This record gives sequence, structure tokens and C-alpha cells, in this order.
Amino acid sequence: MTHETPQRPAPATRESGRLVVLVSGTGSNLAALLAAHDDPAYGARVVAVIADRGNIRALDIAREAGIPTAVVSVKDFDDRAAWDAAVAETVAVFSPDLIVLAGFMKLFGATFLGRFGGRIVNTHPALLPSFPGAHGVRDALAYGVKVTGCTVMVVDEGIDTGPILAQATVAIEPDDDEATLHERIKAVEQPLLVEWVGRIARGGLRVEGRHAIVGRA
Ligand code: GAR
Repeated sequence: MTHETPQRPAPATRESGRLVVLVSGTGSNLAALLAAHDDPAYGARVVAVIADRGNIRALDIAREAGIPTAVVSVKDFDDRAAWDAAVAETVAVFSPDLIVLAGFMKLFGATFLGRFGGRIVNTHPALLPSFPGAHGVRDALAYGVKVTGCTVMVVDEGIDTGPILAQATVAIEPDDDEATLHERIKAVEQPLLVEWVGRIARGGLRVEGRHAIVGRA
């Protein structure tokens, strides 16, 4: 990051916010962020992609875009606390302004949250607080709700319990299965995540109780 002294003229464009994106899967949300980040007006740029497993499509998408990648697998560490600290160290290498969980399927512990808490954003394929956890789409279908969707939120120490930034709805059709419903959710989730990551990068984020507030005070 460079810093302008007060005496020098303001730069033509604000330096982009540095995004580190964490992934575990197919990477469609990552791809949407990468499609947005080349526009300087977007205000944010993906500087690294970190996964908790190798051989996933999301890592291929990052490499094809020329983004540095790293894999930090739980199985390579003695316990979850050691893994958590290693992910924090790896993320810190890239000096992020904001960390985006784009289909990242692990929970963080005290070390990671202590270091980056308040600037981690997650996306979840259900209308929280309904259907948190690893199977938000499946659980909504099984329950029989007629409307579901996605939620972009700030990460706290709970499972999908953090302050909500934005939500979008998707109607469940009678012949939906988990795959068809998840595809329609992803179609609204990707632009929602891109929009709110950009808003935070351009305007800042603060949390007051249950409320996530975007924009400078
Ligand atoms: C997304 O739908 C995201 O909401 C979900 O994983 C999918 C990843 O898709 N995350 C969770 O379920 C977290 N609890 P992608 O790899 O194609 O972006």
C-alpha cells in the first residue's frame, strides 16, 4: 500500500481495497469478483485466493486469472487451533483490507477472528437466520419453505450468526432439487456479493451490535 502525504495532490483514483478470498469449491462467486475487480471504479482487487483443500475448480479459476494461491489443509496440522493460526499467517502475507469467504466451508477460531474480526464477509445460500450451516439449500428444501435465497454477512464467532449486510430471495419451485435450487440461488448470490464487497471497499464497514453499516460515518 502506498500513502500520499497531505502536501501532494490527491491521486486520480483511490487505491483499490485488497481482497483475500477464501474458497473450498467450484468458485463461481470468486469468478464473479474477478469479473468485477479490473474496473478501477469497483474499488477492490483480489490479491490472493486461499483454499482449505487442493484440486478444486476455484483454485483453477484463480490461477487462470494470474492470482496467487495457497492451500492450507486441516489434515496437515496437529489440531484445529494450529490450522487456524496457519490460515491467519497465510492471509496476513497479503495484507488484506477485507477477507471474503466465497464458499469457504470451515469455521475460524480465536486466532483468526482476533486478527481479522470485523473485516471478514461471508455468503450463505439461505435466508439467515434460517438454515445456517453446511447444507443451507438442502435444509430449506427439506423443511418445505416456499421462499429461500442468500445472505451476505459479517463473520462472527458463531455459525452464520454475524450481522447481515444484504439478502436476496429465490422462490422454490415444486420440481426443484438441491442442484437446481442452488444454481438459481447462485445466480442472485454472485451479483449481491460483488455489490456489497465493492460497497465496503469504497465506503468502509463498521458493526454496531446486530447491525453492519457500510459507508463512512
Ligand atoms: C455458495 O452458494 C455459498 O453460499 C456456499 O457455497 C457456495 C459456493 O459456491 N457457502 C456455504 O454454504 C457456507 N455455509 P461457489 O464455490 O461456486 O462460489
